[in-house]
Amino acid sequence: MATPSRLRARLSAVARDVRAVLSDLRGDRLPPLVARRPGRHPVVEATPGSIPSATTAAARPLLVRALHRETQDALTIVLSDPTGAPVVFVPGQFLTLLVTIDGEIHRRAYSICSALDDTATVAVTVKRIAGGRVSTHLHERLAVGDVVPVLGPSGDFTVVPDAAARRSLVLIAGGSGITPIMAITRAVLAREPDSRITLLFGNRTAADIIFLPDLDALVAQHSGRLVVRHVLERVAEGDVPATVGRLDRVTVTAELEAVADRLDATTQYYVCGPAPAMAEVREALAARGVPTANLHEERFATAERATGARVAQRLSLRRRGGAVVDVVVPPGGTILDAGLAAGVPMDYSCAMGGCGACAVQLASGEVEMDEPNCLSPQERASGRILACCARPVSPCTVEAP
Ligand SMILES: Cc1cc2nc3c(=O)[nH]c(=O)nc-3n(C[C@H](O)[C@H](O)[C@H](O)COP(=O)(O)OP(=O)(O)OC[C@H]3O[C@@H](n4cnc5c(N)ncnc54)[C@H](O)[C@@H]3O)c2cc1C
Ligand code: FES
Repeated sequence: MATPSRLRARLSAVARDVRAVLSDLRGDRLPPLVARRPGRHPVVEATPGSIPSATTAAARPLLVRALHRETQDALTIVLSDPTGAPVVFVPGQFLTLLVTIDGEIHRRAYSICSALDDTATVAVTVKRIAGGRVSTHLHERLAVGDVVPVLGPSGDFTVVPDAAARRSLVLIAGGSGITPIMAITRAVLAREPDSRITLLFGNRTAADIIFLPDLDALVAQHSGRLVVRHVLERVAEGDVPATVGRLDRVTVTAELEAVADRLDATTQYYVCGPAPAMAEVREALAARGVPTANLHEERFATAERATGARVAQRLSLRRRGGAVVDVVVPPGGTILDAGLAAGVPMDYSCAMGGCGACAVQLASGEVEMDEPNCLSPQERASGRILACCARPVSPCTVEAP
């Protein structure tokens, strides 16, 4: 029989185990980033990305159902929720995939390219970038049956289908920039019988055209409602009919002139492609007198960069009308992760600088921020920052909504 002291020891061991399990379930394995009393903050020497963060812990696991090679460099990943729950999105939105490579978690955005009809699955298409860590990893390592944690969908480069709409859309895509545009094309053609689309699609060669068979099928199915004009840098005999050139100002101007009868003052322009092509398209549209309100752009930039935020920093998070929470952000850590780990209910969606949901106001201090897609120059100048990719390089005070 156990003695009272042994019994006490056993009970205390059981209680410790239960506490450990509960704290594990709560995600308390994270390093203790928060200290309640200033001056006693534990400084965590963690490598950014090497630990599951508060944002990555919130990711939804999706199962890789199928992989399709679209071109030599483009791989479509079909995903579904293992529980059978639908994956709901607005055409044009993207998912943030959390990809672990050598123990480090990388967040990358990939636009949904699939149709709205089948919410049981959702597809993204990844173009392999030379030297790109995540795109190369997905191309070489991802297998059917793998589970990929995702955040989102996020983003406002969207068209919400409306059966009563009579839209004129011009969609301009360069290379893998076709992905959100493909989702918009599929949805508008399927759901808006009175809307029409003109797609201008630039690629190096015909072999690089992602979704070419799907586009051909859509053109055949929706005669007149979808016109696709290819622009190719190099053409060979037997290729799809195309204008030879690049998506530069001159070519875009000529292409739009060729379809002028499909355009009017209400036409909305959606543009996604390499940054130089997008700048040329912007110029071409401005020269045609297209108001900036009719122009919608998506940039495929990566927020993750080498960080100069090498030491832990103190951060005061002020919630409007709420208490101030003091946090220590580990070296290279983001304001969002530090705030969430401290239990501050902060808004976010993509966690990689692509949607703007996490915007907060920097009241004092300095941050390093590589922000690809969301803030206007005016917002940046007024101290608006994205908590998901802002890394303090000095003690900071931030006001969250
Ligand atoms: C909102 C949004 C949606 C996106 N949707 C898609 C999508 O549907 N399909 C897709 O393939 N990609 C998409 N991207 C880009 C994607 O998130 C990654 O940036 C891309 O896969 C490169 O990641 P990587 O880790 O392979 O390259 P990294 O290791 O991050 O970068 C390696 C090098 O490649 C350069 N680089 C990074 N991205 C690109 C790029 N797109 N083109 C050329 N050079 C680049 C970097 O500057 C760097 O020099 C999207 C990005 C955003 C912000
Ligand atoms: S959460 Fe999307 S930009 Fe920060």
